[in-house]
Amino acid sequence: MDGALRGEARALVRSARALLVELAEEGVEGADRTHAPPALAARAARPPADRPASSAGSDPVTARASDAPGSAERPTLDAVRSALGDCTRCRLCEGRTNIVFGDGSPTADLMFIGEGPGEQEDLRGLPFVGRAGELLTSMIEKGLGLQRSDVYICNIVKCRPPGNRTPLPDEVAACRPFLEGQIDAVAPRVIVALGKPATSLLLGRDVAITKVRGTWHAHRGIPVMPTFHPAFVLRQYTPENRRLVWEDLKAALKRAREGER
Ligand code: URA
Repeated sequence: MDGALRGEARALVRSARALLVELAEEGVEGADRTHAPPALAARAARPPADRPASSAGSDPVTARASDAPGSAERPTLDAVRSALGDCTRCRLCEGRTNIVFGDGSPTADLMFIGEGPGEQEDLRGLPFVGRAGELLTSMIEKGLGLQRSDVYICNIVKCRPPGNRTPLPDEVAACRPFLEGQIDAVAPRVIVALGKPATSLLLGRDVAITKVRGTWHAHRGIPVMPTFHPAFVLRQYTPENRRLVWEDLKAALKRAREGER
């Protein structure tokens, strides 16, 4: 084995160990293969933007996004978007007006992941631009004091589910390599998971959002803060729910900033 291969093998072992520690901390005792991430670019820590991420193996997005076969380069968002193409991988393509890929900074420290585009998002091709989006944008801008363009926002599925229903498991699975590609490309310091579907997907198990919100978890080495979906907060617009989301977002920003040191 030459030096480069040995180094790569050591990095993979380190990543695998970090992933096991993380899973043990999450209380996971066994693996559910249906939830295994397609791009196992497990990272013990966020790689700096100028350093390639660990190998993403045979993931189609990362593979196509790489400049050279076998390259361990992180994909760019543009590469992930072009790998997605004019997607017809699941039935959601049938009713869509636009693919809603994502919005914001490609080098964001904070990444927000929602469930799927609604009507406005489908019409405009941008995530979180309807009523729930206005609330999210106001929490980011007025609450956290950031610009929406400072963060990265996307969804677990990129096409609107009919009637805004929850995406079905096969739809989530079809879109998943592209979500993982976006996570690899942006390499955020912290992910904020908005609502149960995004949180369950990232944590690899079915969660009760009321139980896990406000507590730290991880997805492939990246800290994850689950919180209520803004559409839920709009439906149950109580001071308590607003306070809880506000606490979660402040904790997420604090942790992202700590990572800057
Ligand atoms: N709800 C979501 O989960 N995502 C959007 O983009 C809009 C509403």
